[in-house]
Amino acid sequence: MPNAIVLGSQWGDEGKGKVVDRLASEMDLVVRFQGGANAGHTVVVDGTKFVLHLVPSGILNSRSVNVIGNGCVVDILQLSDELSYLMNAGISVSPERLRVSGSAHMVTPFHRHLDSLTGGHVGTTGRGIGPTYVDKVRRTGVRLEALVDGSWKDKIAAVAGLCAGAAPRTEARPFPELDRTISEMEPHVRAIAPYIADTQTVIHACLKDCGNILYEGAQGTLLDIDHGTYPFVTSSSTTIGGAFTGSGVFVEFQQRIAVVKAYTTRVGNGPFPTELDNETGRDLQRRGHEFGATTGRPRRCGWLDIPLLRRSFIANGFNQIALTKLDCLTGIDPIRVAVGRGPDGTPEYLDLPGWQEEIAGASTIEDLPARCLAYVRFIEQQLDAPVTLLSTGPERHQTLIQERI
Ligand code: IMP
Repeated sequence: MPNAIVLGSQWGDEGKGKVVDRLASEMDLVVRFQGGANAGHTVVVDGTKFVLHLVPSGILNSRSVNVIGNGCVVDILQLSDELSYLMNAGISVSPERLRVSGSAHMVTPFHRHLDSLTGGHVGTTGRGIGPTYVDKVRRTGVRLEALVDGSWKDKIAAVAGLCAGAAPRTEARPFPELDRTISEMEPHVRAIAPYIADTQTVIHACLKDCGNILYEGAQGTLLDIDHGTYPFVTSSSTTIGGAFTGSGVFVEFQQRIAVVKAYTTRVGNGPFPTELDNETGRDLQRRGHEFGATTGRPRRCGWLDIPLLRRSFIANGFNQIALTKLDCLTGIDPIRVAVGRGPDGTPEYLDLPGWQEEIAGASTIEDLPARCLAYVRFIEQQLDAPVTLLSTGPERHQTLIQERI
C-alpha cells in the first residue's frame, strides 16, 4: 500500500473521517499534522457513531499507530476527555497507539476564552485555535514538551497575561482565574504526559521500515491560512504543504486523495459563490444532516463548484477523488454544477439530470444508476482525476472502491 494523504478539497466536513477510517485498516501509521479540536471527524463503525476531534481516525482500527504532529494545536483537557470517551467505548488508546509531538502547541483555557470573545466575525469554532497559533507565531506559545519538563505552569501564566491583555472585559464572561485553571489542568497534564514523544523520529522510523503511512488532513483547502478565502479561514496550513512542516518529515505520497462532497457546504462566515439560501439549500441540509460535528451549527449548503475545486487540485496535486454523500443527491433533479464564472464573477452553471433510484445498494461504481454514474464521470472529467472511493451512506460498508484507472 503506497503512502497516502487525505485532504478536504472544499470548506471542510467533506467526510474525511470515513475515508481515513477505510484506508487506515491497511496502514501502520496515521498522522494528523495541523489544526486541533476545531475538527470533528465522524466515523460510523457497526452502527456506533464516533466523533473524533483531535485523535486521528486510525485509532478505530486496531492495526495503526496514530500521531498528532508538531503542526497541531492540542487542548489537553479535550484530548484527555476524548481518550476517556474512546476507552469507554472499548477502543485501545495506550501510548503505544498514540504519540503526541512535544513540539505541538498547547491550547489553554485562556486561548479558548479569547477565541470565544473575539472569533465572532470569522465565525470560529471557539476552540482557541486562532489565539494559540498567534502565540506560536509570535513566539510566546507553550509547547507540549513543557508538560514533561515541568515548565508548563510558568509558561501558561505568561500566556494568561497575554490573553487577558487581549480579551475584551465582560461581566458575563470573566477571564479564567489562573490558580484554579492550573489545578483543573493538573490531572490532565498527568494523563497526557506519557503520550508525548518525538514524533518526527516515530514517522521517520516507520518510513525506513517501509511501513504504510497515511496523513489525515483536518478542515479543508478553502480554509487554508494562505490558500483559503482569507480572512474567513482557519489558522493552519490545511493543504499538502502543511503535511511536511506539520510533521517534520518528507514523505512521498503516491496517493493524494481529494475528499470531495457531491455538493458544497460551509460553516462559519465568508464567501460561498454557489450557496443556496433557499428551500433547495435547506433540503440539502436535512438530507445530509449538515450540522457541525464540533459546534452543532447548521452548515450552509450549495451546489458543487468546479472552479474552486480546480484551485484546490492545483494546491495539493491531487491524483484521486474520494466522492462522498452522493446518496444525498438522490431525487434532486436537475443537479446544478458551477463550471465557470461570468464576467462579474458569479457562477455559471450546467444542469445535469438527477436520478430517483436509491444508490445505497450498489456494490460497484458501475452498478450505479446511469444518471448517477454520469454525474460521477462528469466530476472525474472536470477535475481530471479518477474517483477511486465513493461513499453511498455513513456506514463503513456503504463505500465503493474503484481501482486506480
Ligand atoms: P477556527 O478554525 O475555529 O479558528 O475557525 C475558523 C473557520 O474555520 C470558521 O469558519 C470555522 O467554522 C471553520 N472551521 C474550523 N474547523 C472546521 C471543520 O472541521 N469543518 C468545517 N469548518 C471548520
